[in-house]
Amino acid sequence: MKPIKVGLLGIGTVGSGVWTVLGRNREEISRRAGREIQIAMVADKDTERAKRITGGDVRVTADAYEVVRDPEIDIVIELIGGYTIAKDLVLAAIANGKNVVTANKALLATHGNEIFAAAQAKKVMVAFEAAVAGGIPIIKALREGLTANRIEWIAGIINGTSNFILSEMRDKGLDFGVVLKQAQELGYAESDPTFDIEGVDAGHKLTIMSAIAFGIPMQFERCYTEGISKLTRDDIRYAEQLGYRIKLLGITRRVPEGIELRVHPTLIPTRRLIANVEGVMNAVLVKGDAVGATMYYGAGAGSEPTASAVIADLVDITRLHTADPDHRVPHLAFQPDRIADTRVLPMEEVVTSYYLRMRVEDRPGVLADITRILADLSISIDAMVQKEPSEGEHQVDIIMLTHETREKQVNAAIVKIEALAVVAGKVTRIRLEELGKA
Ligand code: HSE
Repeated sequence: MKPIKVGLLGIGTVGSGVWTVLGRNREEISRRAGREIQIAMVADKDTERAKRITGGDVRVTADAYEVVRDPEIDIVIELIGGYTIAKDLVLAAIANGKNVVTANKALLATHGNEIFAAAQAKKVMVAFEAAVAGGIPIIKALREGLTANRIEWIAGIINGTSNFILSEMRDKGLDFGVVLKQAQELGYAESDPTFDIEGVDAGHKLTIMSAIAFGIPMQFERCYTEGISKLTRDDIRYAEQLGYRIKLLGITRRVPEGIELRVHPTLIPTRRLIANVEGVMNAVLVKGDAVGATMYYGAGAGSEPTASAVIADLVDITRLHTADPDHRVPHLAFQPDRIADTRVLPMEEVVTSYYLRMRVEDRPGVLADITRILADLSISIDAMVQKEPSEGEHQVDIIMLTHETREKQVNAAIVKIEALAVVAGKVTRIRLEELGKA
């Protein structure tokens, strides 16, 4: 059978990994796919570099539109990133009847509904395994492997940069800013690290997983995102002393009132496997009603790990593109006409536990004032620690862990506690998840 022809848009870190792995494993990949997968055209602004990587074996152009228009091309791989040009190119490829593979989580989380509708209408596939957790086949697991289950919740460490920063802060007792600089020097963090450290990248990935898990549209605009830039090494240390580790977690959960969709720093019991995922690694914990909890661990970024996911999509499309479009695996795991409009809950309606740290005057009655505020708002304390004041100091840190409570109640309590004259500065609030319940 003649090879399937692929056009590659962008031959940077991931694109060159795709080129290398396809070349190295050509024989095995074609034995699996049923025919050879051949990159026939590469578009990149830096055509010289593209020629160097491909060794002159393939057509190279600076104009990505040339690729999406070329009648020879069966599959377009979009590795350009961003929302604007990438979106136009993906829609143009679909309009021209091409199947698309993309690693672009930002694009799918914000414009996925439009893109999938266009693909559905043209009867082409849009595959995106590489968009979530790099090399970990989590899309495949959620969409196919766990298809018997009613998914209850997903909790993931899905941003390697922030996980690296948190691991280093804990291991070495360093401040956020110091570790961020190191991460930038090591090439883990971008020069503008906002998306990684403020939870936006994780929010994009979580939005995609939530859509597939619960059969809802992509709705990143409803995802709550809070990053790690305000975490202090004291909070990391206090959490450790209480038996918890702080991770930037993406959590999506089905509750009777709707769907939770949230990214924020989270205390997790240190004994949980996911709490021990360190450095740039990613992990996703999925709770299904039949299977129970399953966990997926691996490299969430990098040239060849991400290429592994891109090529898996190429093989899937190669196997399926001649199949009846109505019998393919649906983009969002559920049939397009069965996507639900279940509400995504605003953060104030979420119920979880909390770590609260406050700096207070060390004198009689202070604790009573604080606990009265909590009691009046029906917030139950699970554990409490008061730190020794430093020599000559009159203020101490108090750390409280609460039982589950609605976020709205905690917000109200924080406002009242901060208004007390005996409380200095702001109350630090970090959410806490046991991740062990049924
Ligand atoms: N920047 C991401 C991370 C990898 O740090 O995990 C690509 O999504």
